Amino acid sequence: MSTLSPDVIQRIRSAKNILFLTGAGISSESGIPTFRGEGGYWKTFKAEELATPEAFENHPDVVWEWYDWRRGICLDAKPNEGHLTIAKWQSLSPSINLITQNVDGLHSRAGSKNLLEIHGNIFRARCTSCREKFSLGEDGINQPGLKFCPVCESLLRPDIVWFGEGYDNKLLTKAWELSKVAHIVFVIGTSANVSVPANLALTAIRNGALGIEINPETTTLTPSMQVHFGGKSGEVLPEIFKEVFPDTKRN
Ligand code: OAD
Repeated sequence: MSTLSPDVIQRIRSAKNILFLTGAGISSESGIPTFRGEGGYWKTFKAEELATPEAFENHPDVVWEWYDWRRGICLDAKPNEGHLTIAKWQSLSPSINLITQNVDGLHSRAGSKNLLEIHGNIFRARCTSCREKFSLGEDGINQPGLKFCPVCESLLRPDIVWFGEGYDNKLLTKAWELSKVAHIVFVIGTSANVSVPANLALTAIRNGALGIEINPETTTLTPSMQVHFGGKSGEVLPEIFKEVFPDTKRN
């Protein structure tokens, strides 16, 4: 189904550094609503209205309730063929890297290594005062709604980068480095509405990487890509993998 040209297949095979850049779309086949799609609403709120420092300042209880709900969905979800194919691909070489905007933890549950979660992780909280980090869930802090720091008793917040907030410098520096040296960049399941991830993809392309986008829709990045697959990542990625490595077993 994927049908890459022989030239592109050859470029992928001979590429040393491959970068996968993923967004919410890769997890939609696992049942996790995307941010800007139909499921991006909770009660009457849009996801973009809740994932902000202002929303947390004004209504920390509502924001925590929303994240508790999303965390439950993430916990029940299973990695799909898209996540699993990237993990399998990464197991072939240490220079295949993955940068995700997703906070759902599904890439690491699929077995991905060399993973940068640039927007944080929904299974972690950090203290608004001492910045100490804690796991959430059965093995960590588990009460619903507002949560407090066991060290200093201040309010905890989700360990997630919200709209209008800066990124973790160390993670971002590493992400820029990876995008500059990539020979191939796969851009998967992102609307490219957030500027940092979109610019990571563009940086790779400006530095000579071949860009392959997998998304049922076109995005602002599509014109910069050499290849666009208008399909679901859980279907397209295994096909690409099969074409590039016809002799490698999937599992
Ligand atoms: P969006 O919800 O903006 O975009 C999801 C993209 O996935 C859309 O372009 C869809 O067309 C595409 N898509 C849907 N199903 C797909 C499938 N099965 N296979 C491939 N693509 C599919 O999500 P992001 O671009 O990830 O930030 O959003 C970026 C950031 O905005 C998120 O990380 C989040 C949000 O605010 C934080 O939470 C910090």
